[in-house]
Amino acid sequence: MSTGVAPFIAIDGPVGSGKTAVGRVLADRLGHMFLDTGVMYRAVTYLALQKQIALSDPDALVRLASSSGMELTGGPGEECRVIVRSGDVTDHLRSPEVDRSVSAVSAVSGVREVLVGLQREIAAKGQIVMVGRDIGTVVMSGAGLKIYLDASVEERARRRHAQLQESGTDIAYDTVLEDLRRRDDLDSSREVAPLKRAADAVDLTTDDLGIDEVVDRLEELARGPGFSGTGA
Ligand code: DC
Repeated sequence: MSTGVAPFIAIDGPVGSGKTAVGRVLADRLGHMFLDTGVMYRAVTYLALQKQIALSDPDALVRLASSSGMELTGGPGEECRVIVRSGDVTDHLRSPEVDRSVSAVSAVSGVREVLVGLQREIAAKGQIVMVGRDIGTVVMSGAGLKIYLDASVEERARRRHAQLQESGTDIAYDTVLEDLRRRDDLDSSREVAPLKRAADAVDLTTDDLGIDEVVDRLEELARGPGFSGTGA
């Protein structure tokens, strides 16, 4: 059986499961590229809000996604920036307005088609850790290692609340918890590519684990024997 590092690693899970923090550190340790696909849905949402495009108009949202000229910069170990025609939008993607609206945008199948196409182009460039909701089920269904990270809704709300406080957004814990439940519901119940664990994913619950402990476990899996995945 061949040994090596899994070249394509898909990490899926709900908001606050730790997938972005964990995925980034794992990618650094392995020397892989890292792509947080959530930022792409967030960028389309930010542009829609800026251009006052109705979130209930799927055709306009698809046109916006296809004409955005979205590019992601940053190789292994570098910060990922999201560039669109109007410039670098990275610093605008985590606002409460974008948080509130992004589920609606990511439920539009045409928007997903455009972004999944871009994600596969990026994966074709080399070894990558990609995180999102449908990476193991749709985007890289042939990935050699698929992880499904989860944590209780209360723990995820606590993490998100702490992040928001740190970035200067003063918002009540109960509001964060309620918003998270609403987004979980929207992400898992939408018709196209809902949040769902792939049948062959490894489950990891992160309630009582720190980032390093989760990454240690994933690194062990990634360096394990017999990877045959080819990505998409
Ligand atoms: O992971 P995040 O919170 O940044 O994701 C933002 C939104 O985008 C969330 O509503 C789920 C959606 N998303 C998705 O539908 N598919 C992905 N691959 C990544 C994110």
